[in-house]
Amino acid sequence: MLGINALGFEILPICHLIWEAKSHIESYHIEELVDIFERLSEVESSKTEFIFPHITITKDAFSEDIESDLMFFSNWINTQQVSKETKALYQLLIVSILEEVSYTRKDGQYLRWDYRSEKIRRKNQSRISKDKIPLKPFNKGEIPTVKEALLRTFRKVLLDIKSLQFGLEKKGFQDVINGSILENLPRYESNQFSGVITSPPYCNRYDYTRTYALEIAYLGADELEIRKLRQSQLCCTVENRSKLSKLEKIYRDIDRFDDFQKNCKIITENTTFQEINSALKIRQKRGEINNPGILTMVEGYFYDLAFLLAEMFRTCKKSAYVAFVNDNVRYGGEIIPVDTLCTEIAETLGFIPEKIYILPQRKGNSSQQMGRFGKESLRKSIMIWRKP
Ligand SMILES: C[S@@+](CC[C@H](N)C(=O)[O-])C[C@H]1O[C@@H](n2cnc3c(N)ncnc32)[C@H](O)[C@@H]1O
Repeated sequence: MLGINALGFEILPICHLIWEAKSHIESYHIEELVDIFERLSEVESSKTEFIFPHITITKDAFSEDIESDLMFFSNWINTQQVSKETKALYQLLIVSILEEVSYTRKDGQYLRWDYRSEKIRRKNQSRISKDKIPLKPFNKGEIPTVKEALLRTFRKVLLDIKSLQFGLEKKGFQDVINGSILENLPRYESNQFSGVITSPPYCNRYDYTRTYALEIAYLGADELEIRKLRQSQLCCTVENRSKLSKLEKIYRDIDRFDDFQKNCKIITENTTFQEINSALKIRQKRGEINNPGILTMVEGYFYDLAFLLAEMFRTCKKSAYVAFVNDNVRYGGEIIPVDTLCTEIAETLGFIPEKIYILPQRKGNSSQQMGRFGKESLRKSIMIWRKP
């Protein structure tokens, strides 16, 4: 909006819908949006033949009535004569209320499920039949109707668009590339970006393909595509596999195999990383780390970051600044200082570290870590580096 040329990279379909809707900000016709809003206020839902394209992890996320209404209102826009920009915006409105009208809530690594959902009821019945105590109930509170949620969000978005359009003159070039930064950035010319702002996934097991499962499924991804997305993420879950053979192929294809080897060396020769890795191995042997995937995740995370930071350094112009957000993490009692280790890797690549800002951290240690290993505060940081 400031007219700065900008390029983003994202893999999640929901982010591309958000980008599509936001990038049209100057071309929305307020009269058309108001007209659709009014028509929507008057329409009453009825049964439709459309069904929600569930994947396994989203099944039972809505009550029957909500799901039926959702599909009615989702299809309703196709029965109206509207511009394609308004259609995309309307689709985003639907996507943005999915969680609100569902029995789920995004919660770090997974979706939490309300006790009223079929999924939890079935689980509890099975637990009771095996003489186990039922799961601790999670109650989301009152769930609005689809129409209420949709109108409320629409009203808010209309106000936003009206105020943002005031005095707006779209300048510059902005785009978001749909694909993994690790696979795309190596193909970009060197020395072209004046700055980078990024908040990559953290090494904290948060899996966006699970927390955004409702939105991704609604937008049409099937099980296979979700699994592919999960593996394309920067390594941040215990399910992520190493990307090294894939990256090797990419670097060979673009005739940069030497760079592939150099990037791998950044990690194999980094003594801080090696020390963390051996500490984690010892803790795993002692039984302090309950999931062996933690070790592969931490290793994969820093390999992925080494490739990312190396490509950022190469594509940045002289004097470019990088602002890099991240959280430190702790496994089996071992604190991983992601901020200082990333900064050390950045420095090895040639960046000059300028500052590490420590942000107020709202999240604490997990209760598991705290109970067993005591409380330790974990930093949330913004690192600032400069290419000389
Ligand atoms: C911590 S979130 C930050 C989101 C957003 N940039 C922000 O600041 O609100 C990390 C984002 O990185 C995206 N991501 C993960 N792996 C990626 C990859 N290989 N290429 C591009 N984006 C990726 C995720 O989908 C997620 O949206």
